Amino acid sequence: MAGKPVCHNGHDTEPAAQDQPGAWVRAYGRLPLPADLNWLWTIGAILCAILALMLLSGLTLTLAYTPDAGLAFGSVEGIERRMPAGWLLRAMHMTGASFFMLALYIHLLRGLYYRSYQPPRRAVWLSGCGLLVMVMVTAFAGYVLPWGQMSYWGADVAGKAVGALPLVGGWLEGVFLGGDAPGTPTLHRMFALHFGLAFLIVAMVAGHIAHVHARGSSSPSARPVEVTGALPFHPYFTVRDMLAIVLVAITFVGVLCFWPELIAEPANYRPANPLHTPADIEPEWYFLPFYGMMQAVPFKLGGLLLSGGAVAVLFAVPWLDRRAGAACGAPALVRVFAVAVLICSAVAAACAGLHHMQGYWLLVARLGMVGYYAYFLAYLPLSGRLQRGGAA
Ligand code: HEM
Repeated sequence: MAGKPVCHNGHDTEPAAQDQPGAWVRAYGRLPLPADLNWLWTIGAILCAILALMLLSGLTLTLAYTPDAGLAFGSVEGIERRMPAGWLLRAMHMTGASFFMLALYIHLLRGLYYRSYQPPRRAVWLSGCGLLVMVMVTAFAGYVLPWGQMSYWGADVAGKAVGALPLVGGWLEGVFLGGDAPGTPTLHRMFALHFGLAFLIVAMVAGHIAHVHARGSSSPSARPVEVTGALPFHPYFTVRDMLAIVLVAITFVGVLCFWPELIAEPANYRPANPLHTPADIEPEWYFLPFYGMMQAVPFKLGGLLLSGGAVAVLFAVPWLDRRAGAACGAPALVRVFAVAVLICSAVAAACAGLHHMQGYWLLVARLGMVGYYAYFLAYLPLSGRLQRGGAA
């Protein structure tokens, strides 16, 4: 029957304009999502929650921090000892950084495993890669701020690595350090970078999420939503996201209160001393795979290119994987094995990064690097053939 629906008393049943759901409710609350999304799809919400925590704790810490080589370490000690609940804020910011990076890596691996980078979500993937780089730079700049031994020598190693670039290396090193060696100008730069990038990340996350909502979520089965069935974002996924955030919050408090030394680096509780190089200079755990790859090559430029390339290759993933459509071509066992090799390779390079790069550890780092690159440069392009072979 054509025409507007009419109820038995003859009144028009179509909602009046003021009863129509707003754009926000339509775009988010009622957004239809594949019914078979699993718990890995809660990581995005967890990332947003930790990002909010990082911004709030970071902004509060800024009130008492001084970016000056002579004062920075003391100002951080002041936060720990004299600022009300300063120790808690700093611990939350430091532990939050590790939780954020862990969640980010799981989010990325989920995208790789389920091939969420396939059209029409290429732009989502690319904005995610952009976010990864921005978060890494922010985390690095933040680690320099307390001006402990690792902060100082980390900045020194990074400055020298940048300096190894041909042609522009020397100039870039000068821009990065603001002088011949790390000092107050370096701290000003790192502080500005850390503070400014945090807001750019928020803007970029907003774009990233808007893109996901515009393009629709992929799903574990990679089947279209007409086959999997759809459920509205609220209440089905909001409730699960909130439960996941609560569980992560409980774990977070557990680590913060009962296992604080899990994340803190003892050497960074000693003030920066330009005259004393620590026996082992090592970055935070989340940079270790890239640090291991950088050390595994005997000449600086090669190490820099290969460790930078390990992040850069992620941008090319949608084009390296030539399998058509979102349906997963390679059998599940092959995909699990490939991602397991990728993770083990990254862990091997990270473990090697913790040791003096010689003998056995040099071999481990190189094997780790080969395994890591093999996923992107051999497995992804070849899996298209696996699919075609399987389909034939
Ligand atoms: C600040 C960091 C990030 C935040 C806050 C964030 C947040 C989110 C959120 C809320 C979603 C929707 C829910 C979900 O699918 O989990 C999402 C989806 C997605 N993200 Fe991220 N993300 C971040 C970084 C990344 C990175 C580094 C990548 C990969 C390089 C990435 C790739 C994706 C992809 C491909 C999707 C769509 C997944 C699908 O098809 O359903 N994101 N992200």
